[in-house]
Amino acid sequence: MWPAGFQFVVFPAPAGKALLHPALLWLVLMASLTISCGQQTDEGAQGEWLRGTQKEKLSTLERQLRGFDVAMVEMGYRYQELYWAGVEKNWDYARYQVEKIALVMEWGLERRPRRRASAEDFLRNALPPVKAAAEARDSIQFLVSFDSLTAGCNQCHAKEKLPYFAVRRPLTKPSPIGK
Ligand code: HEC
Repeated sequence: MWPAGFQFVVFPAPAGKALLHPALLWLVLMASLTISCGQQTDEGAQGEWLRGTQKEKLSTLERQLRGFDVAMVEMGYRYQELYWAGVEKNWDYARYQVEKIALVMEWGLERRPRRRASAEDFLRNALPPVKAAAEARDSIQFLVSFDSLTAGCNQCHAKEKLPYFAVRRPLTKPSPIGK
């Protein structure tokens, strides 16, 4: 029943006694199979995808963190949330969004410093009045400053030769946060 060689290894001749019981051999086989499978998964392990030298890993991270585009996707979201926060008089949330917008812009500029000149006016003149309106809990002041903020978005897009990113007052609310 057992192949000849197998019998020789498992049941060596002296005294006809098994030095390695078949059940034990089975365990050893399974264990080595598990170990070799484990090695295969290690090679393509999820969550351990950074490769190369430290410098190469940092470059990969930089690339994966992306440039200005993801900052702007976040900007678009926060801009809309800010608008509805003001409309719904959720002033603390409005202030929160203004602060995040400033951070998103700063971090975007850290990644793409050549865009800084185009963003100066937005950061210095367009954003602070919206924050002031939220702090004053003033709906009219909010809507006026929000429209100036929108103009600030579009001025920068024009300076950056992206006029087709035309920003307008939001029509829908992206998140379930509301009052
Ligand atoms: C530096 C000046 C600057 C300001 C200020 C600015 N943007 Fe942008 N925006 C850009 C640039 C540059 C891009 C294109 C990014 C790219 O190509 O990597 C962009 C792209 C976008 C996009 C498209 C993102 C995508 O990839 O889908 C949206 C949405 C956007 N901006 C919204 C806004 C809103 C809303 C504001 C104002 C609250 C604003 N932006 C203010 C420079 C700016």
